[in-house]
Amino acid sequence: MSATPAGLTWRRLWDDTAAQVGSRAEARWLCEEASGAFGGEFGDVLDEPATDRMLAHLDAMLGRYAVGEPLQYVLGHWAFRRLDLMVDRRVLIPRPETELVAEVALAAAADLLATAGPGTVLRAADLGTGSGALGLSLAFELARGRTEVWLTDVSADALDVARANAAGIGIAGGGVRFAEGSWWDALPPALRGQLDLVVCNPPYIAAGDPDVAASVEEWEPHGALYAGADGLDALRVLADGASAWLRPGGWLVMEIGAGQRDAVSGLLRDGGLADVEVRADLAGRDRIAIARRP
Ligand SMILES: C[S@@+](CC[C@H](N)C(=O)[O-])C[C@H]1O[C@@H](n2cnc3c(N)ncnc32)[C@H](O)[C@@H]1O
Repeated sequence: MSATPAGLTWRRLWDDTAAQVGSRAEARWLCEEASGAFGGEFGDVLDEPATDRMLAHLDAMLGRYAVGEPLQYVLGHWAFRRLDLMVDRRVLIPRPETELVAEVALAAAADLLATAGPGTVLRAADLGTGSGALGLSLAFELARGRTEVWLTDVSADALDVARANAAGIGIAGGGVRFAEGSWWDALPPALRGQLDLVVCNPPYIAAGDPDVAASVEEWEPHGALYAGADGLDALRVLADGASAWLRPGGWLVMEIGAGQRDAVSGLLRDGGLADVEVRADLAGRDRIAIARRP
């Protein structure tokens, strides 16, 4: 991609960028990022010339985009529900289907809080938090002061990103705790049998799955994607430990791969959980597994 000449307006730069990247929508994301004018404000600067610094930023982003880096990493942040999360190659790019997982978890949390006594603090965990998308949505959207959310990951790099995002949500991040380690082992022993809600989007792709998009395989962290020969390695550990870590009546909400409904339902029942249900995403694929400790 060619260097951008100085003195151009954002209207022209948007056109030129769209021609280079093949999408007006993606070009707009890039131009908004470079101009620092987002949403409606971008419309206000369309006839203003870009500064040299803005052009350098746009060129640098176009260079990264041209070699196939996902737009979300190039921009350095991405929206998840009500949050604008910092994202880079240390973490999975938060997906729209995971927003539905958050919605189910939030509904479960709201039910639990509605029936709990005044002053009760809901204890939740987001295992394999990555950018913090799920756990920080709980912290941000549930009543302040009534939720404690543990964000865990086996990747120290991912936890650094989640910590930065917790700082970014300000006071709502106050009820957030972090722990590094593998699945249940990351949590402090005192939480055993005490958790009201566990939410998790684990890796669930089978090693060598030929359907994984090339850009996902090349750019996103493999530890966030792959889970053994059948894609169920992480889900087995999670289903197996849930009864020990949830309090009676506590909920487990997990994202699963399309095609894993029967296997995961069996794992959850074998793990001693009840009310096992799998819900579909907006495309009708079975993607959200829910179960409760009896
Ligand atoms: C599919 S990503 C989900 C990230 C984030 N929760 C989201 O929904 O965007 C899975 C996450 O699980 C983490 N992970 C992988 N193996 C793990 C393990 N053994 N224990 C804890 N976390 C693990 C990865 O580092 C990654 O951040």
